[in-house]
Amino acid sequence: MSEHSSLPDAVARRWFDLLDRIGAIAAAHPDALLASSMGVEDSLLIHAVAQCTPRLGVFMLDTGRLHAETLAMVDVVRQRYGIPVRVMQPDPAAVQAHVAAHGEFAFYESVALRKECCGIRKVEPLRRALAGHSAWITGQRREQSITRVDLPEAQWDETFGLRKYNPLADWAGDDVWAVVRALAVPYNPLHDRGYPSIGCEPCTRAVRPGEDPRAGRWWWEQRDSRECGLHASNLADRPRVRPRATDVVSSDS
Ligand code: ADX
Ligand code: SF4
Repeated sequence: MSEHSSLPDAVARRWFDLLDRIGAIAAAHPDALLASSMGVEDSLLIHAVAQCTPRLGVFMLDTGRLHAETLAMVDVVRQRYGIPVRVMQPDPAAVQAHVAAHGEFAFYESVALRKECCGIRKVEPLRRALAGHSAWITGQRREQSITRVDLPEAQWDETFGLRKYNPLADWAGDDVWAVVRALAVPYNPLHDRGYPSIGCEPCTRAVRPGEDPRAGRWWWEQRDSRECGLHASNLADRPRVRPRATDVVSSDS
């Protein structure tokens, strides 16, 4: 019996629609890359990418501050799908210089230092991962944040100079979980421990039931500064959430 034959109609519609979206991206951009943080949205996208022929490449930015559970997902993906996830590391010299100048936990001190850390550990490795490619795919959803309410399904990424696709933009969290559970997609165990959104360990905390799903990300900052530079256009495109004059934004943002 196929894994799809017992799906409720609504779930099946969502799933096949996603496969169509990924198929269309792959046809237009065979070199498109999926950026996976190993959160549940990306697990679903990996499940979809695994059905495509040929498959698209997948990468993860290992910031050096990820949870062990997140890192372990690289092996889960390889074992389940035979997909080798390219793991991008930050420039060790840049990390060392930042830590020497500001300490291991500078991100708690100011938005500027937090963005500097994200710039070194995430944005620069992302730029390297995307170099020479014509498109990338993310698991962002509009519902996730006030910085994402206008997120398009497809956009030109001004920051990195290529097409960017957000095929789950119009999905609700419940839709994602319904499909993931129905298809038994393997997912990061932190989700079952109160982490709806997963980033670096020191910058992510579990949330209480009913709390905003992103309340655990950079929880000490204002809600409208909580983007790390991977998705700088979410701030730049929306006057309402432009960085405040007091925020120092890294050169990549
Ligand atoms: S973040 O910018 O606030 O960290 P979020 O955790 O919501 O982003 O993830 C949104 C999307 O950004 C993910 O679905 C994924 O496509 C991409 N992304 C975020 N973090 C990483 C990472 N460490 N490695 C690769 N892609 C990532
Ligand atoms: Fe650094 Fe935190 Fe950004 Fe990770 S999320 S790169 S630890 S500031």
